[in-house]
This record gives sequence, structure tokens and C-alpha cells, in this order.
Amino acid sequence: MKSTPQRVTVIRRARFSSAHFLRLPELSDAENFQRFGPSSNALGHGHNYEIEVSVSGLVQPETGMVVNLKDLKVILNEEVVTPLDFKNLNLQVDFFKDRLTTLENLSQLLWSRLKPRLDSMNLALVGLRLQESDDLFVEYYGGTDQLP
Ligand code: NI
Repeated sequence: MKSTPQRVTVIRRARFSSAHFLRLPELSDAENFQRFGPSSNALGHGHNYEIEVSVSGLVQPETGMVVNLKDLKVILNEEVVTPLDFKNLNLQVDFFKDRLTTLENLSQLLWSRLKPRLDSMNLALVGLRLQESDDLFVEYYGGTDQLP
């Protein structure tokens, strides 16, 4: 029986632990503290980050899958977990040499790493959710000013 290809969104999570701090070099310690609070401590603090990646594609009739979840795990490991886990984002990740290590900026870095990998597999990166604690996370849909 032939059926119309169906588009489904698959969501996969990964976790990594990183240190960071929020400081602007042109500000004094006091000014940094005033703006960023305890997060401005240059010795850093850590988060157990969680990323949730939404990937859409057509269900392949032969496999019944949009993407082999093993392949998605490899991509997340190579582009997210390995480069960031147990790293200090400010000191060890080039992208943050001239940017604050906010969730907003981190979500853009991760998008830019994941999108080409998924594009090359004919998969669409629909969005990602990046969480640093139970109470704080961002969602990113690729940088347009459109609401999802
Ligand atoms: Ni923090």
C-alpha cells in the first residue's frame, strides 16, 4: 500500500555541564556585579545544561523513521556535548571571546553548529530549547523576528 509521505517532528535531548561567568571587560568589578550579580564572579559557576532539539522530516517508508535516533545522538554528541561538556564557556569556546555567555547567545551557537549537519541529511531544524535550570530556559527558532 502506497501512502503520502508524512512529516513528523522528532525531539531529542542531550545534557552537558559547563562553567561560565557574565562579565564585560570594560566594566569594573562593582559595575559588573551591579549588572550581573553573583554571575559576574570571574572564577565562574556551573550549570547542568539541557538541550532539546526538534527535527522534522519525512517518515521514510522503509524504516518508519524520520531519522535514525542513533545518528541524531552522534550529531548532538559531536556538535554540542563533546565541545562544551566540562568546559568553561568563556575561556575555552572561541565563539564567546567577544560575546556574553548568555543562554540566548549559546542557543545561537548551537543552532549554527546543528543546522548544517541536519540540512545535509534533508532534515529541518525546527527549533531548540536550551535550559540551564528548572526555572530558566530559552527557545530559538533560527533568528527570524517571526513568532513560532
Ligand atoms: Ni549562570
